[in-house]
Amino acid sequence: MSGWPHRHLIDLATFSLEDFATVLELAQRFRVMPVSGSRKLPALQGRQVTSLFFESSTRTRSSFELAARRLSADVQSFSPSSSSLSKGESLLDTALTYVAMGADVLVVRHRCAGVPAALARDLDRECRGGGRPVAVLNGGDGLHSHPSQGLLDLFTLARHFAPEQPTPAALKDRTILIVGDVLHSRVARSNLWALTACGAHVVLCAPVTLLPEAFAAFVAAPPPGQASDPVANRGSIRIERQLERALVGADAVMTLRLQRERMHQHLLTSLESYHRSYGLSQARLELCGPTVPVLHPGPVNRGVEMSGDLLDDPDRCLVAEQVRNGIPMRMALLYLLAARGDELREA
Ligand code: CP
Repeated sequence: MSGWPHRHLIDLATFSLEDFATVLELAQRFRVMPVSGSRKLPALQGRQVTSLFFESSTRTRSSFELAARRLSADVQSFSPSSSSLSKGESLLDTALTYVAMGADVLVVRHRCAGVPAALARDLDRECRGGGRPVAVLNGGDGLHSHPSQGLLDLFTLARHFAPEQPTPAALKDRTILIVGDVLHSRVARSNLWALTACGAHVVLCAPVTLLPEAFAAFVAAPPPGQASDPVANRGSIRIERQLERALVGADAVMTLRLQRERMHQHLLTSLESYHRSYGLSQARLELCGPTVPVLHPGPVNRGVEMSGDLLDDPDRCLVAEQVRNGIPMRMALLYLLAARGDELREA
């Protein structure tokens, strides 16, 4: 683990296949370790993890904080509404205040794409000027990226296909269908980088208002600022507008929340018509095999992206498993960014 090449975690476009393998291996180790309640690992003893969430969250924030505690870190939470932001303090000065209190990792969520990356650059500049190194972990920024969710989804799928050895190879040549509001989804973007890196073929399905044609070329070129793609042979991306056709041949189906808070135009006729055309149900899933699982990053609009009975079916729906896997995955990420060396062996 000592060769981990990333000082921050901003997105998954910079991850090599080896990086994905490292993260999955570590998450699996944490997943099977009996760590809960008062049983903790000492890996981050003396380290401080601060969550700076400028946008609401249930899963990401709570599981990062739980993951940090299970690694014996000190945890600090920040609440924007009761903070000195209301007195005009800037985001950077807020972050620097927590760094002055000892933060080693800042987990940052913001409604604007690019905020975690900008903060990481600013903190690196401070560090070069004599400050302490601080890692920034993107907890979701605008439409850009949600890397920890992309990784926990990858982990959940890898464990589904290969429970004992959830490596990137478990995804090779699998067909993963992603249905829904791709346009507004940072989760979909992170999943596209992760799944294609592991050799999965992704089918995207939604009306054109929620899925512009350009997504078919999403991983065709490295993102701005990157000279080349760190992954040599990616899986493909294909767009299919009709859900019934898209379901045939899928090895797993991920459906996405309709992000009405980010929709500034009339992109849908109605939620009912969306559900009729793109909602998942037990009957529709008969078009794929009986063991094909359904995932959703949450929160779910029950009865819109999928029917209530499907959401409540633990044999078919992996939503609760995704939440469970979020803790070991976030332990792995915190460990890689903040542990000082071989502390895992001391556990
Ligand atoms: N999936 C996800 O990011 O959920 P939260 O918004 O609850 O963190």
